[in-house]
Amino acid sequence: MSQTFDPRVFQLGYVGLGVTDLSRTRDYYASTMGLVETARGDGASFLSVGAEHHNLVLQQADEKTFLHQGYQLNAGTDLADFTRGAEAFGLAPTRKSDAHPGIPELVEIEAPGGNVFQFYTEIAVAEQGYSRSGISPMRLGHLAVVTPEAARLRKFYEDFLGFHYTDDIGGVATFLTCNRDHHVVNVVGLPESRVHHIAFELYNNAHHSTACDILARAGKPTLWGPARHYSGHNLAGYHYDPDQVMIELYTEMDIYVPAAGAFEPRPWHEENPQRPMSWKPEQMTQWETSFEFDLVTA
Ligand SMILES: [Fe+2]
Repeated sequence: MSQTFDPRVFQLGYVGLGVTDLSRTRDYYASTMGLVETARGDGASFLSVGAEHHNLVLQQADEKTFLHQGYQLNAGTDLADFTRGAEAFGLAPTRKSDAHPGIPELVEIEAPGGNVFQFYTEIAVAEQGYSRSGISPMRLGHLAVVTPEAARLRKFYEDFLGFHYTDDIGGVATFLTCNRDHHVVNVVGLPESRVHHIAFELYNNAHHSTACDILARAGKPTLWGPARHYSGHNLAGYHYDPDQVMIELYTEMDIYVPAAGAFEPRPWHEENPQRPMSWKPEQMTQWETSFEFDLVTA
């Protein structure tokens, strides 16, 4: 663990995707996932889970692409100070005004592996609030990124942003957090550059069955789970969005307490106390449920 200071950010704010059919993908995220569109224009759609102005940016593109990941900086952060800090770290930050609706100022940084990050302090609220239809998750939780530059990207998260290491699976998938969630990002080292999955937190476990029913009616089969992972112990189910970007819906993720260097105790933990560790690649579901769908290569 090389992390030595408090994280500069406290949550994953949004994910930006290039999509091949904007109206089809917008319809899935609005009608099936139950996100609310808060702005559109220039071939783009901005969608909110319900609190912040947007948690997802969809941009019409020739092929599916991973555009960027947005993080909200700690309250009181001075963007000029943050920009100077990035330069001192050897990065090339760019200040942008009104680049997104609802975000007056952001700082864009290209991190290792061509991963584009956007950082901001202020984002407007979603005036329409939470949807009352579709799955309507509670919040955007985390992102899993596949990159051939995993070691360097991990250093960016840890040494520049202050993320905590919380677990890894076989040294290939590394879990990192900037808040109480077991992970806010999962960095997967493979010779590809893409999103592995985007994860939304549900209200409770009963919400999983409601969500799976809604997905089934929408012709979006649940491909893996719901089942309890080992790493993070989240109860997770996965399906594909219209461009075959994997979407995770989860509850009961482990809560990390940095001062303890351990997770809050849970009856389903393997260790007491449960601390960050390396899991075996075959340790995918604690329930030993069998799935034909290969979650690792998907
Ligand atoms: Fe996940």
